[in-house]
Amino acid sequence: MKIWKSALLSLSATIGLGASPALAADRVNASVSVDLDTPGARIEPEIQGQFAEHLGRGIYEGIWVGEDSPIPNTNGYRNDVLAALKELDIPVIRWPGGCFADEYDWRDGIGPRSERPKRINTHWGGVIDDNRFGTHEFLNFSEMVGAENYVAGNMGSGSPREMAQWLEYMTGSKPTTLVKERQANGRDKPWKVKYFGVGNESWGCGGNMRPEYSADLHRRYATFVKPQPGETVVKVATGANVDDYNFTEVLMREAVNQMDAISLHYYTFVGDWDHKGSATGGGRKEWVSTLSNALHMDELITKHSAIMDQYDPDKRVGLFVDEWGTWYDQEPGSTPGFLYQQNTLRDAEVAALTLNIFHRHTDRVKLAAIAQMVNVLQAMILTDGDKMLLTPTYHVFDMYKPFQGATPYPATIDTPEFSEGGKTLPVVDASVARGEDGQLYLSLVNLDPERAARVATDLKGAATGHILTGPKLDTHNTFDAPDTIKPATYSARPGRDGTLTFDLPAKSVVVVAIR
Ligand code: AHR
Repeated sequence: MKIWKSALLSLSATIGLGASPALAADRVNASVSVDLDTPGARIEPEIQGQFAEHLGRGIYEGIWVGEDSPIPNTNGYRNDVLAALKELDIPVIRWPGGCFADEYDWRDGIGPRSERPKRINTHWGGVIDDNRFGTHEFLNFSEMVGAENYVAGNMGSGSPREMAQWLEYMTGSKPTTLVKERQANGRDKPWKVKYFGVGNESWGCGGNMRPEYSADLHRRYATFVKPQPGETVVKVATGANVDDYNFTEVLMREAVNQMDAISLHYYTFVGDWDHKGSATGGGRKEWVSTLSNALHMDELITKHSAIMDQYDPDKRVGLFVDEWGTWYDQEPGSTPGFLYQQNTLRDAEVAALTLNIFHRHTDRVKLAAIAQMVNVLQAMILTDGDKMLLTPTYHVFDMYKPFQGATPYPATIDTPEFSEGGKTLPVVDASVARGEDGQLYLSLVNLDPERAARVATDLKGAATGHILTGPKLDTHNTFDAPDTIKPATYSARPGRDGTLTFDLPAKSVVVVAIR
């Protein structure tokens, strides 16, 4: 048994539908105790943010089909996707990239759609982007979904003037030439742009810069990212890739006073960048390897945060994990460069474990954006023409909604471990927080692909919520069977001593409210 200290809490419960036969045979015991006297920093809703890039079928077809499309739409946005996204209470959306952002000229995406220039999307498939989705289409979309805007500017190939003028175009309220142009293009009131990214991945597709140069450029560009009088904008410096701690060190040392946040990008592969692996069909080895890679997020945040602490002990600067998620070999037969992949129960576990990690680092992690929203990488939603399905990752985000704005508590998780291929994982992970509605919420993840877990807790009350699980490691939804995996109701009643015990089937995610 290993003690896992966590800022979250776990319980074990009895499935409300009755005990599964799978529970009895090979079940392990774990326990969770929660320190309700030591609340942590708020779980900012923005950690459930999403990323939507001009990439593959993410924007075009996934979100935007145009007013003349036979696919039912509202002002060009497809109705089915819009309705599903609204359900998630998405706090923030990052756009237009990604790598795309550092080649993007915002002026390409305004004015009459038929007159907008056509450009090659050099990063993603070499296809033509005719810019029919631009600034107005994105900001109106966020407004319809109810999300804040996180606009990523072009530091790699654009100028500080372009960046400044884009912000003025979007948010200006005085009758300048740019504001009048916006109004002539159909938007009278200024939009609110809460977050502005000063470039993206400057160490790679954003310019292949050394951290010293990137820090200098950040200082220069950020100078011209000026909010309107009386407004604020959170300036996000393009930060490290994975474990490039030197990048964080240099950026913090040289530019801490010119930033409000610094980004971190980390993707989960089955193997590594050169061996991404398949989205479906993997066995125990691939399961363990993927989840182990996902859990690496904790170490990355811990180490980047420690560096940030040296230059920002008051924790003014946020760590924004604004690209994360699974990245597999693209779906066989799909368009090269479109990063389309299936999404299975394994992705659901990655999502839940990652959100739990963010809950443990709320002192620094103030925003995150899963990559990406629709049809790209670890997507919420997949579409095929007029068909749509919700992925297991969507269902996890739906189940985790009560954690938005909640106050986390430290939890001690006493759990067995299991190993495969030289990697060791805990069977149980957990997170506990008090929601904005005053109720206690608990998430529990059983990482073990074969064994059920009984989790004893010191929490009292009655627990009701949902469970996500499936018969196979790669259980997933298809367009012909879109409800193969979806949440089922779940409940637990207290034992004689009043405490809750939860029975978790193998490979499952549970979120309950405790009353
Ligand atoms: O999300 C796909 C790509 O991954 C993004 O464009 C880039 O920022 C990252 O490398």
